[in-house]
Formats: sequence, C-alpha cells, structure tokens
Amino acid sequence: MDYRFARRAQLTQDSFITEIFKYLQDKEVISFSGGFPNPSTFPLLELQASAQKVFTHEGSSVLQYATTNGDLDLRRFISERYRVRQDLEVPADQILITSGSQQALDYIGKVFLEPGDTILIEEPSYLGAIQTFTSYDVDIQTVKLQENGIDLVELETKIVQFNPKLIYLIPSFQNPSGISYSQEKRFAVAELLKKHDVVLVEDDPYNELYYEGNVQHPISTHLKDRSILLGSFSKTISPGMRVGWVSASKEVYKKLFTAKEASDLHSSSLDQRILVNYLYDYDYDDHLNKLRERYASQHHIMLEAIQIYFPNEVKVYPSNGGMFIWVELPEGISSVKLFYEAVKVKVVFVPGDPFYVNEQDTNTLRLSFANETPERILEGIKRLGNLIQQSI
Ligand SMILES: Cc1ncc(COP(=O)(O)O)c(C=O)c1O
Repeated sequence: MDYRFARRAQLTQDSFITEIFKYLQDKEVISFSGGFPNPSTFPLLELQASAQKVFTHEGSSVLQYATTNGDLDLRRFISERYRVRQDLEVPADQILITSGSQQALDYIGKVFLEPGDTILIEEPSYLGAIQTFTSYDVDIQTVKLQENGIDLVELETKIVQFNPKLIYLIPSFQNPSGISYSQEKRFAVAELLKKHDVVLVEDDPYNELYYEGNVQHPISTHLKDRSILLGSFSKTISPGMRVGWVSASKEVYKKLFTAKEASDLHSSSLDQRILVNYLYDYDYDDHLNKLRERYASQHHIMLEAIQIYFPNEVKVYPSNGGMFIWVELPEGISSVKLFYEAVKVKVVFVPGDPFYVNEQDTNTLRLSFANETPERILEGIKRLGNLIQQSI
C-alpha cells in the first residue's frame, strides 16, 4: 500500500532505545541503558494507600473528564515547592500538568516551531527531545557542553549566527552526560539570552536528585517570561504515572493549554489525584533523601568499578547527581560496535550516537547505574572493561 505519510512522520526515526529494549527481556542481561528509576524506590505501599483513599472518597469525580490544566492541588504543590526550594515564583495557574515532560516538549514544538526554524541544543542532548524537535522539521544546531555547563563562547556565536527561536537546555545532571551547570554559568546563560532576546526551554527532571548540598536554582529564576520550565515526577516517584508539567508566561501558557486540549483534553486525573494525596499525606523530602542516598551510592560503586576495570585511556565524567555516567572511549572506537559486542556478554548501555544530531560512530556512551544491584554493576563494568581493553 502506498501510504501518503506526512513529512513529519518520515522525519522521525525510531530511537535506539527501541533496539535496546529487544535485549532487556532476558533477565540475565545487565542493563546500564534506560533512564529508568530503580523500581525498589517506588513508594508502592504509600501509593496503594493513596489510591485506596482516592477511590473511597472521590471515586466518581476522578473517573470523570477533568479540566485541561490539571489538578489544582497538584499545581499548588508544585508552585509552593518552586517558591520554597528554588526561590521561583510560578503561580499555580501558570502550571500545565502534562503526561510526562516528554509531552510538554511536543507541545512546545507544536506551539513554536515551523519548518526551517532553528533551535539550539546542547551536544550531547536528550535523545527524546532530539526526536521530538526533529519531527517539527527544524534546523537543530548544537553547542558543546563543558564540565561546568555549556560553552558560553560557542553559545553566543551560534545565537548570533543562527538567530534561534528557542534554546533547549538541561542544566542539572544532564541526560546523557550527568553534567551540571555551575551557578556562574547559569547566570551567564541567562544574561546572554536576555542580551540576544532568545527564549529558553529549561528541562529539569533531575534537579532534586543531587547527592550532596542542595538544589540548584534553575536558569529560569533569572529569566521570568523569557523561559519555559519543565518538570516531572518520573525520576522521583514513578515514570509509569506519567505526571510532568510545564510552566510558562501567561501568553505561552495559553497556547500550550490549547495545544493540550486539542491533543488529549487532559492527563489522567486518577493518576494526579493518587499522586497529590501521596504528596500531602507522606514525607516527600524523606523519600527524596533515600533516593539521593541510593543513587549516590550506586554512582560511587560504578565509578570505583570503572577505575578498576576500564583502561586508563577512557575518559569518564563523574556526576554530582542524577542517574548517568558519561564515558568517552579512545578516538576511533565506535560505541555502537562496542554495544553489539557487549550484548554478546549480556551487558547493554546506550551508545552515544542518538544523543547527537548529525554524528555517527561516536566514541561516547551513557551508563546508567540507577537500575541495577551493586553486584551486577560490578560484574557489568568488569565485562565492559574487558571488551574495551580488547578493542584498544
Ligand atoms: C532530560 C529529560 N527530559 C524529559 C524526559 C521525559 O521524562 P517524562 O516524560 O517521563 O517526564 C526525560 C526522560 O528520560 C529526560 O531525561
């Protein structure tokens, strides 16, 4: 059949994650691949009690259609947390609940992007965002990340050269690199965006997952109406509930609201009510502290194993939070080839390629330590180390 698919459907490729999923059915496979939270951290019993409460007390209302913007108690919780924890005033009526922040990225594309527009993103960047933006037929230009955030000189050069409509950044414990912007860099980026009149899309799902210290203020703190800020409960409570959000100026909010209304009317109000009951009835900060401890420890275990088993020629980017360690193999070693070798010894990770816009056979890869036991982390890194050693 000669289907006349839309151009946007032809532009979007399946992500490499689909390829990786094939291997995850086998429980013996040690997975450093997806950005999956560790399921043992899901507050199962608490969510079960919240669900029971919701069905008992508000069953008939939560099973009904609801408003597009999302549950008001939930939006108030998010707004209050921004105010108290991040020094950021985001009124509840400028927060739109979405089905994960991934959906918010798509709405931003829908509302802002036309074929031929240019957007700037970090290199490397989150593959889900690259996939979404690609479907809007835009020119995606990249700016390199340094160890303390984006390269400011390259950023300004590319802003002047390409006059981007949006700039998309993940300043805290970035996916895939784990890199976090320093406070100075956050401020400098804000100043540059103001100077050149560019709108920021700040994607911030990992900001609560710091291992020590405190939460970093989003770049949006310095930008007011010039920023669109995305958040999510996927990495802190449960991705399966699909609850994320986007906050923006009133003008942008209205457009995003209409995009959502036209797309799915609203996100699941059942999930939102279960979540908000959990958030008000239990100690979210206590839950987060346990999560931070867990990931800090797993990060440490993986890093130590890397130091023992990886050859010295391999460059590793440790992180201060989040779920990832970024690895640079010696020049000329393809991480995709390494991936297929690793599959044979039952280890999977994400090769660097899908995190770049136009590069193939990269020598980089992303390792997630979140979703495995300490024993399997050690064993998996040992197997990978052997393979890398053999390919040098
Ligand atoms: C940077 C970034 N943005 C957005 C998402 C999507 O998250 P969700 O749609 O589950 O909120 C992810 C998930 O891995 C991510 O790493």
